[in-house]
Amino acid sequence: MNKNVPLFNLKEQHDSLKNEINSAALEALNSMKWLLGPKTQEFEQNFAKALNAKYCITCSSGASAIQIALMAAGIGKGDEVITTPFTFVATTTSISLTGADFVFADIDPKTYELDSEDVKRKITSKTKAIVPVHLYGYPANMPEIMKIAKEHNLKVIEDCAQSHLALCENKYTGTWGDAGAFSFYPSKNLGGCGDGGAIITNNEKIAQACQSIRHSGRSVGKAYEYDREGSTLRMDEIQAAILDVKLKHLATWTENRQKVAALYRKHLANIPQITLPPEAPKGWSQCYYVFTIRVKDRDALSAYLKEHGIGNAVYYPVPLYKQPCYKHLNCKTEDYPNTESAAKEVLSIPMFPELKEEDVIYVAQTIKEFYK
Ligand SMILES: Cc1ncc(COP(=O)(O)O)c(C=O)c1O
Repeated sequence: MNKNVPLFNLKEQHDSLKNEINSAALEALNSMKWLLGPKTQEFEQNFAKALNAKYCITCSSGASAIQIALMAAGIGKGDEVITTPFTFVATTTSISLTGADFVFADIDPKTYELDSEDVKRKITSKTKAIVPVHLYGYPANMPEIMKIAKEHNLKVIEDCAQSHLALCENKYTGTWGDAGAFSFYPSKNLGGCGDGGAIITNNEKIAQACQSIRHSGRSVGKAYEYDREGSTLRMDEIQAAILDVKLKHLATWTENRQKVAALYRKHLANIPQITLPPEAPKGWSQCYYVFTIRVKDRDALSAYLKEHGIGNAVYYPVPLYKQPCYKHLNCKTEDYPNTESAAKEVLSIPMFPELKEEDVIYVAQTIKEFYK
């Protein structure tokens, strides 16, 4: 009998918090302080505290968080920024919007994160920053990346859109580099009711620059004086109020995602055709934004799961260097062999904190049937 198991399920979580969310949103609405009011301040304090960071600066999206953080760190025209081609397009568009050029390094074939050795090979006299992406909620190799950055005097802005509360050597992703950029897009581990993002940093100068850039470049405390060019990139007060309600549950949701992942590992063990996601070493933890397996016959498996009511998706089927918008860069496919094969083989299967063991078993059994 077919079951319906979605890839993710926002409704169950939203319904469980509906009353609290409605009253927080209404309070913000009635306060008449619709931008940069007390709810924004409260959420910023609470999100910084949750990550053991000094400063949090909210903004309009994960994409703007990356752009603002890079600009605040002094990255712009004439600079090169090394990042991965195996990510969502906002990683690179945000770099381009600062005026800088991005340069791709290949990924590690096991973790899908930036390959530190290839990062080293891509450094030139113009390189000014690295943007590692903690893809799927698995931390990039931050100890190695920070070592390279230190040796070459580079800034590091972490793309944490998928890595809320993921740990690398017992330290949260987003707190290793000069800044971490988070997304609160509705389907993210901490998702709003609309768009939102935030920058986390321990650096006071970067924090002040981020506050200015998201707010049209205003000099701090001055109404009509501008230190620099910024833009209208603030978070709405209503969104901050909603996110603050949800933030209280983030740690439990993350544990529940980790429990679902453990169930998948149990029920999908010993299927030779499947490579499970890497296990994080001691002191590291992944927050399982998605649960991504790797198989040779990906498209056939994907279709079979869909026929059996199981949601699944490919993050990401087309490496960024093959996107029409980047055709002019003339990147060579053979320079990115690990990205090439990952893009053909990865498949994300249902993952959300409320996913039940019986549904995990149904997904696992359906995958086993496919390989019979
Ligand atoms: C890796 C990555 N970077 C950046 C972003 C951009 O976040 P947003 O959609 O909030 O702009 C996303 C969101 O999908 C993402 O997954």
